[in-house]
Amino acid sequence: MDAALTLSGIGKSFAGTPVLAGIDLEVAQGEIFALLGANGAGKTTMISILTTLLPPDAGTARVAGFDVTSDPDRVRSRIALTGQAAAVDGILTGTENLVMMGRLSGLSPREARARAAQLLERFALTDAADRRTATYSGGMRRRLDLALSFVVAPHVLFLDEPTTGLDTRSRRELWSAIRALARSGTTVFLTTQYLEEADILADRVAVLDAGRIVALGTAAELKAHVGTDTVEVRGADGALVGSIPTDGTVAGVRSALDELGDLEGMVLVRRPTLDDVFLAFTGATAPQTQEEAA
Ligand SMILES: Nc1ncnc2c1ncn2[C@@H]1O[C@H](COP(=O)(O)OP(=O)(O)O)[C@@H](O)[C@H]1O
Ligand SMILES: [Mg+2]
Repeated sequence: MDAALTLSGIGKSFAGTPVLAGIDLEVAQGEIFALLGANGAGKTTMISILTTLLPPDAGTARVAGFDVTSDPDRVRSRIALTGQAAAVDGILTGTENLVMMGRLSGLSPREARARAAQLLERFALTDAADRRTATYSGGMRRRLDLALSFVVAPHVLFLDEPTTGLDTRSRRELWSAIRALARSGTTVFLTTQYLEEADILADRVAVLDAGRIVALGTAAELKAHVGTDTVEVRGADGALVGSIPTDGTVAGVRSALDELGDLEGMVLVRRPTLDDVFLAFTGATAPQTQEEAA
């Protein structure tokens, strides 16, 4: 089977400053792929190129089998992109927006209504279903915008920082909607600043830094590359009192504790996180985590 996305040497500069400096990447069909990077790393630029909104300066990209530069119409007909709240029509209600999208995508009136009701429920908009979206709050518009991209399953769904500004419940609903879509065969390409989100959701993760992909693999592979588990002893105030690498087995933890000697505090076995991955591969402090951001 063809890959859903194939990027070869993709480059883009703004005013002479390279933002993407020769990106090679392949994403398989049905994969959930997360592009992880700090603010300004070039994530939106990458999505814009892959969705034909921005031409690359260098390289080629194929999406759902077609070249973004020479075949943009075919690419567009096979993808969906969120982050364009402009797609929401303020004069229409939530239901009307979703039904219209369903009808434009070839659903029957009945199918379109059923799908609309299901998505309104899923994105916690049922109570506001019959209100004009002009009266929606920012968070509600954002959820409706996401719902619109789930009306029909595209070949590839692009989500640019989809959970930014969502509350915990909506974030979980979105994750489960993304998983369901991927199970039905849609490839999902999402960007995030949240290490935790990439870890929980994505089959594979790429870390974008200074215009290049500095790490690529499953979250588990990246973590394995970064280091082993450690036994930590922390004092009552949470400060680290001692730490030592371990293999995580009972015998290993026991001997690690012996080696640490007589310490006061709480013991925990810490696995490497994507924060550690970020630090190891970019030499920079990781972007804030989901919990800190919430
Ligand atoms: N249209 C543009 N013109 C000039 N500079 C831009 C433009 N779009 C993005 N940039 C710059 O490119 C860099 C990457 O931006 P972006 O792709 O939006 O990053 P991210 O989405 O990862 O936060 C930033 O330094 C940004 O200021
Ligand atoms: Mg962005």
